[in-house]
Amino acid sequence: MNYKEHIDIKKLPRHVAIIMDGNGRWAKKKGGIRIFGHQNGVKAVTDVVEASAELGIKYLTLYAFSTENWNRPKVEVDALMGLLISTIHKELNTLTKNNIRLLAIGNILQLPNNVRKELQKTIDITSKNTGLTLVLALSYSSRWEINNAVKNIAKDVKNNILNPDEIDEITFNKYLTTSEIPDPELLIRTSGEYRISNFLLYQLAYTELYFTDTLWPDFTKEDFYKAINDYQKRERRFGLISEQIKNQQ
Ligand code: FPP
Repeated sequence: MNYKEHIDIKKLPRHVAIIMDGNGRWAKKKGGIRIFGHQNGVKAVTDVVEASAELGIKYLTLYAFSTENWNRPKVEVDALMGLLISTIHKELNTLTKNNIRLLAIGNILQLPNNVRKELQKTIDITSKNTGLTLVLALSYSSRWEINNAVKNIAKDVKNNILNPDEIDEITFNKYLTTSEIPDPELLIRTSGEYRISNFLLYQLAYTELYFTDTLWPDFTKEDFYKAINDYQKRERRFGLISEQIKNQQ
């Protein structure tokens, strides 16, 4: 089946988020070390970014490094940081050519200086681009993000900048690292794991979830189109009943 052909361009998800999982298992299957899996995961990253830009998706968020990932062996953490710098550096031209804007969410201050520098440079250079916004979640976890939001809200209340009675969803959203980004309509997780793993817990309230057994380095544009096809077959009800949704259309 040609999944791309069956995509309804008028009903694209505005924001797709991806938990890229299975690099380590992919490497093990090939008899390589874990880093070999991450290196091959980069090809899937560039394919999915390209596919999103081509289709006209507005936001793509990739879970590239979680808060918990800092606890992995140092050699793996260092290799991932190195891979981040080299990929961001290598892809700058492609981002510019394709009108892609780069953003990052997470505890960016925790990243090594050289990663932060390369990241900030690319964010600045691409800041005026108006096509796809590519969001890298780096040193990110939802509990960190929510905790951080609560801390900053408490500070603003203490300093009389914020009235506690006026804290609603709109106000709360402003304190999240995703304040400028709409909630995802579709979340994809690869490698046959059925978990959210501390990713965008607040933002995923009404997101459609799509799981595939494919390991991340094997994930292709076709797999991405297939996930979008699946999403487009679903009826999103937001707590309403089917008839109400049909009357709105
Ligand atoms: C999960 O697989 C993957 C990661 C923790 C890192 C993802 C990073 C990349 C694909 C490369 C760099 C990314 C960018 C955006 C340039 P895992 O190691 O948890 O796999 P396993 O569950 O099989 O062990």
